[in-house]
Amino acid sequence: MAKYNFDEQINRRNTHSFKWDIKERHMGTEDVLGMWTADMDFKSPQPLLDVLQERLDHGVLGYTIRGENFYEIIMDWMKRRFDWELTAEDIHFCPPGVIPAACMLVDLLTEPGDPVFAFMPNYDSLYGTVEAMGRRLVTAPLLCDHTPATACGDWKLDLDAFERIVVEKGIRLALFCSPHNPVGRVWSLEELTAFGEICRKHGVFVISDEVHCDIVRGNVKHTPMGKIPGMEQLSATLMSPNKTFNVAGLMTASVLIPNREVMKKFRTKLNHWAMNLDNVFGTLAVETLYSNPRCEEWLNQVNDYLTANLNYAVDYIREHIPCISTYVPEGTYLLWLDFSKISLRGEELRRFLVQECKVDLCDGWEFDPDCLDHMRLNCACTRATLEEALKRLEKHL
Ligand SMILES: Cc1ncc(COP(=O)(O)O)c(C=O)c1O
Repeated sequence: MAKYNFDEQINRRNTHSFKWDIKERHMGTEDVLGMWTADMDFKSPQPLLDVLQERLDHGVLGYTIRGENFYEIIMDWMKRRFDWELTAEDIHFCPPGVIPAACMLVDLLTEPGDPVFAFMPNYDSLYGTVEAMGRRLVTAPLLCDHTPATACGDWKLDLDAFERIVVEKGIRLALFCSPHNPVGRVWSLEELTAFGEICRKHGVFVISDEVHCDIVRGNVKHTPMGKIPGMEQLSATLMSPNKTFNVAGLMTASVLIPNREVMKKFRTKLNHWAMNLDNVFGTLAVETLYSNPRCEEWLNQVNDYLTANLNYAVDYIREHIPCISTYVPEGTYLLWLDFSKISLRGEELRRFLVQECKVDLCDGWEFDPDCLDHMRLNCACTRATLEEALKRLEKHL
């Protein structure tokens, strides 16, 4: 078995990296560490790089169709990893990504001005689809057992609030993030079943963004929304190798929609927009990453590395930077940091972190306008980069 070296320090500066190269984020400061957007600083699995290199060496990069086994490969992945049996008709490829798929579904399933529900905080581009499509965002906060949260399990779905809002506002569509970005919960079967019961009772369709489904701690199990009793016909599950194998730049995603009527509308919409051919590298990526066992070995190893990084960061913060409160997430490689013990908020906090600490984190208010005292730290980097970032924070806090 190949042992991947995630300690390899790869300079991503000047590679058009979204995380490292947006100069405006650095406010004129040099040497800022990119710890914000959710991709990893690691090379993708070698079998994928080999397949892409082979295609590049071939040199002709014309219009591309999916391989014969494309859908079976996704079906096998879902069965193997999540014990969810799908048929080829349940799956549709969706270039260029999970969020464009969410936009299309919001557009297909509601009318302009309709209310759409989301728990907050939430991934900004996901809840942003609602207003982008001219619908009305209706929210309820996630519950938290402690303020600040001391463990990931402190975060709960407020199902009473959800049901009340569904009835009062006539909600027919909800957006759901699972595993949850930014708080890191991997919702349990019991929680998802209870959520599903309310959806069924009131006919609420759920768009479930599961892009982080493969990045979970060793003892935690992710369950796709479509597997929840009664939710098969009431949900669209969005997934992608994007986070799993660090291929966000290939822009490739799939929707899983067992409801034939919704799937038909979705396919028709993609056809109308002429989005029916794939990116040559994206197609190869899906096929290789989900079928080559050596890629799954990479995934297991990267998950171990990420868990070790997250444990390290939380221990370090608790011991050396006690003015930040945080906890190890059940899923994702993202730490949700609570800065409420210091007085800086919003733009001031951001300016301090970039200009004094030289660390570029994701602003909490993007996930919820009320989260002015939170930041999100991406730990999918080498241990050396993580250590450096934490030392910089410690020095100034
Ligand atoms: C919850 C969530 N959904 C979707 C995305 C983006 O997915 P895509 O690039 O496939 O649109 C991200 C990226 O960070 C994310 O965290």
